[in-house]
Amino acid sequence: MYKSLFGALFASLMVLSSSALAEEPILIKFSHVVAEDTPKGKGALLFKKLVEERLPGKVKVEVYPNSSLFGDADEIQALQSGQVQMLAPSLSKFEAYTKQLQVFDLPFLFDDLEAVKRFQKRDKSRELLRSMSKQGIYGLGYWNNGMKELTSSRELRKPEDAKGLAFRIQPSSVLDAQFGLLGAKTVKMPFADAFKALQAGTIQGTEGPWSNIASQKIDTVQPYVIETNHGSLNYMLITNQKFWISIPYQTRTELEAIIEEVTFAVNKEAEAMNQKDRERVIAAGKTKVITLTPEERDAWRQALLPLWKTYEAEIGADVLRAAQTVNRKH
Ligand code: LMR
Repeated sequence: MYKSLFGALFASLMVLSSSALAEEPILIKFSHVVAEDTPKGKGALLFKKLVEERLPGKVKVEVYPNSSLFGDADEIQALQSGQVQMLAPSLSKFEAYTKQLQVFDLPFLFDDLEAVKRFQKRDKSRELLRSMSKQGIYGLGYWNNGMKELTSSRELRKPEDAKGLAFRIQPSSVLDAQFGLLGAKTVKMPFADAFKALQAGTIQGTEGPWSNIASQKIDTVQPYVIETNHGSLNYMLITNQKFWISIPYQTRTELEAIIEEVTFAVNKEAEAMNQKDRERVIAAGKTKVITLTPEERDAWRQALLPLWKTYEAEIGADVLRAAQTVNRKH
């Protein structure tokens, strides 16, 4: 009897240890739409590096840049259905899931990236990380890119100069209304398609930070970049809520510590990376960079300010008020 008990014990121990041995690392597929040499691209690679250094054999990260796995049209659904585990879409791409994040699209709301960062540390911003939990989307942090400029086939100095041009925009009704106030047209289109559409002439303008202008070579197909700094391009690092809570507590805590570190690094480097790309574009000399005088820039601001009121109810007056207090002059 002892012998058979021992045999059974031994057999179950063997099963246990072989299943432990066979345990696969948790796989995180991180998909994004930009080049690797951008704030988000570098952030994704740093996340992979730190995870594989600190959680070897436990977690594996695969990064898919440049819309190579999923693009703007399908990446969020891919996260919800578990085909990818991490994304960092721009905050302008969440309108179908929450209206509150539209606050980040309001033109001239934040004076600079530092103001955006201060807002992201406020409670109201932290709460927005949970604003899509009903749709199974879990916000892990805010990553920033940079202030947005306009690129155009025509020299733009005054807001009315944009009249009649068609701009590629992200899927955001605030951005649609922004160009509407200028008398311009808009075409919502995935990031990956903008360059070709400019080449084909189906659009005549875009908006974006220097890192995207440079890495997508927009300066080679647009004769003007206008330094409006009228808004900023920011991301939310997101995961699938069910997936995230399924990760064993200890591992998840370590992942969250890594994310905090990477978030800090991305947000610290983003501005400098954009400045470097600005220099690169100027040095390449393919496009004319127009720097507006303070008076010229103020005319754009005045033209677009009415949007704050238009979107206040959808965004929430409390969120908008919190955002309005982060500029230095307040
Ligand atoms: C865009 O579509 O212009 C941006 O959101 C792309 C990105 O992820 O920076």
